[in-house]
Amino acid sequence: MAQKKVTAVSLLEMKQRGEKITMLTAYDYCTALLMDQAEIDVLLVGDSLGMVVMGEENTLAVTMDQMVHHTLAVARGAKRALVVGDMPFMSYQLSAEQAAENAGRFVKEGKAETVKLEGGADFVPHIKAIVRCGIPVMGHLGLTPQSIHKFGGMKVQAKTDEAAEQLLKEAKTLEDAGVFSIVLEAVPAAVGEKVSKELTVPTIGIGAGPGCDGQVLVFNDMVGLFERFVPKFVKRYAELAPVMREAFTRYRDEVKAGEFPGPEHVYK
Ligand code: KIV
Repeated sequence: MAQKKVTAVSLLEMKQRGEKITMLTAYDYCTALLMDQAEIDVLLVGDSLGMVVMGEENTLAVTMDQMVHHTLAVARGAKRALVVGDMPFMSYQLSAEQAAENAGRFVKEGKAETVKLEGGADFVPHIKAIVRCGIPVMGHLGLTPQSIHKFGGMKVQAKTDEAAEQLLKEAKTLEDAGVFSIVLEAVPAAVGEKVSKELTVPTIGIGAGPGCDGQVLVFNDMVGLFERFVPKFVKRYAELAPVMREAFTRYRDEVKAGEFPGPEHVYK
């Protein structure tokens, strides 16, 4: 029997009944299928693609074409999970029209059901334009990696009372603009909890503490596939890198030694 699809509305209902929301990033069909089978609620095709799939230093070089390509692969694997396409740097910042047009590409070409964009009050017209087209929008506040050069690095945000108040104000502004949820990245746990309590829409935290309405991790971080650095907020649920390296090494050794393919792998 087909499973009931998670929707933007379901996430609000989950918050209302106190059920935590689970979100992971995904970039391909096979991984999306496994996450869907594990009943992860939301699959975010994150622009972290630039770092963990494309090997870039940061997320800034990611293009709309790359995002749409990977979103379609993920959407094919997501039978139950809600699919969120992450709007890459300079795909929405220029105007509300640009934002709506590119959000539309995520839905039409990538088969995403929703999109996410980074930023606060400056992007209210952009969010409203996308929502007007019938596309639910997820906000993203705190550490917003597309502004890495403005922040001077990947730094914890909202550490002072003043900055925390400003973050709460921005979150309320996004809620009023019509977002269906907000990612809070790299903020003190007390800030994550306060914002979550004050909002009607759910928050999804990454390095924002247990008081958020849901949690998100980058797939490659949580299964130990990305070894360049490990942020404090990451929990490794598996260590896949050594397992994969070992498999590749055994394969190489067996081919070199003439042991693979064996008789059982040969057509008669
Ligand atoms: O691109 C991404 O992976 C994200 C998450 C960190 C929320 O935006």
